[in-house]
Amino acid sequence: MRLQEQRLQQAVQGKTILITGASSGIGRDTALLLARYGAKLIVVGRNEERLRDVAMQTGAQMYVMDLREEQNRQQLCREIQQLDIFINNAGISIHRSIYDALERPHDFRRTMAINYFAPVELMLHFIPLLDAAQGQIVNVSTINTKFRPMAKWSAYQASKAAFDTWLRAVAPEVKHTVSTIYLPLVRTPMIAPTKQYERMPAMSSEAAAKRIARLLYTKKREDQPWWLLFLRYVRP
Ligand SMILES: NC(=O)c1ccc[n+]([C@@H]2O[C@H](COP(=O)([O-])OP(=O)(O)OC[C@H]3O[C@@H](n4cnc5c(N)ncnc54)[C@H](OP(=O)(O)O)[C@@H]3O)[C@@H](O)[C@H]2O)c1
Repeated sequence: MRLQEQRLQQAVQGKTILITGASSGIGRDTALLLARYGAKLIVVGRNEERLRDVAMQTGAQMYVMDLREEQNRQQLCREIQQLDIFINNAGISIHRSIYDALERPHDFRRTMAINYFAPVELMLHFIPLLDAAQGQIVNVSTINTKFRPMAKWSAYQASKAAFDTWLRAVAPEVKHTVSTIYLPLVRTPMIAPTKQYERMPAMSSEAAAKRIARLLYTKKREDQPWWLLFLRYVRP
């Protein structure tokens, strides 16, 4: 995919852009890409070494923190008083049979904590900031929220669908742009533990980053693979 570089530059140069989950995968490549077009980045993640590497390469301000913790979110919100773009990307996935999860209620708490409650609570602070800047949120979601739910993905899918629904309900009210990217399988550390994905076709994280960047100048509400419509047609 070719980016319209001038339009991207106009959309991000000098803009304050927060990327959660920038220490790895899609968030990392998005940070590296947007830095090349002059964005003023704020990056968040838990792994200090990996986040520092991204911050060094991009000149980003970094926050090493676990966004599931309320005091961390409060600190981030206290320190961010102006924001143009929020890329909600931090997330975890769990692939596990419900029979292996019967004694693991924390699977469901953990996925909801980072994939749903963290972005909701950050948005409660960011909505006025994004409104004032006539800014944008880009939510990094999954095509699975558009399908019939899949076995063994209950924790992940429910939590991603929860934030997707929340954001779609909020979108008509707010005074800034709300965009969601529904990604297919992307080759990142997130999918590495799932053996069945090893030989499946997957998008690169650089390609996912470009698609996110494109949303920053097109301001479209949704980005999804072209073949999704076809799949929805053939799948009952
Ligand atoms: N890979 C795919 O196939 C795929 C498909 C569709 C959508 N997505 C979505 O894409 C997003 C990025 O995933 P990815 O594939 O790039 O995976 P990844 O490489 O595992 O990256 C996930 C990022 O989230 C951060 N993170 C996780 N828990 C956190 C927490 N509690 N506090 C702060 N940061 C946290 C991780 O940083 P630390 O480990 O440093 O905390 C990491 O930077 C996710 O929202 C995922 O749902 C992925």
